[in-house]
Amino acid sequence: MSRTKIGVLISGRGSNLQALIAACANPDFPAEIALVVSNKPDAGGLEYAAEAGIETTVIEHDGYHDRESFDREIDVTLKAAEIELVCLAGFMRLLSGWFVETWRDRVLNIHPSLLPAFKGIDAHDQAIAAGVRISGCTVHIVRPEMDTGPVLVQAAVPVMPDDNKTSLAARILEAEHRCYPHAVRLLAEGRIEIVGERAVLNTDTTAPSALIHPATDG
Ligand code: GRF
Repeated sequence: MSRTKIGVLISGRGSNLQALIAACANPDFPAEIALVVSNKPDAGGLEYAAEAGIETTVIEHDGYHDRESFDREIDVTLKAAEIELVCLAGFMRLLSGWFVETWRDRVLNIHPSLLPAFKGIDAHDQAIAAGVRISGCTVHIVRPEMDTGPVLVQAAVPVMPDDNKTSLAARILEAEHRCYPHAVRLLAEGRIEIVGERAVLNTDTTAPSALIHPATDG
């Protein structure tokens, strides 16, 4: 079985990266992490990657005069590692339209709310302020506008009356760690088809992947 090569982009702690590393350690998992890229040299996730023997690289955005030149450097780095699928895991940079279109349907993100509710960096605070009883997490295909794109996997998580941002974030994070590997598996097994802006689950597990194919130059 050839495994889909993933590149994981991080900026910090890296607990979702850790969940993906754990999933990929199973020989039956249809993907492997070939590269971890961080835009922060002190991102904790870099250590998890190094411990797992995964190649890492730091590309600091400060050195680039605009968003697209930074993204072009990431693009070159991913292509050099023959990456087929990009997973954003706490990557705190909005990617340019150019990058998202170059990697169309091959960039995933995880967000700590049930999208399209509560987009942005303060999703937990927004959920608490709104008084919702249920929040959760979403793994989706990335489109240029922040926290939008076809939904692949979601999990619902209760919001308790005495929750604060920290307690809610911790509960949602547990769900995130289950959802991300699941979404990667669905894509790598070729079970997702994008119809309009919906990700439709294909139940024919013998179908070749419609989404995972090498990046084209552009
Ligand atoms: C997660 O809550 C994820 O949903 C959000 O950023 C956080 C990253 O956490 N996009 P970690 O670095 O994976 O631990």
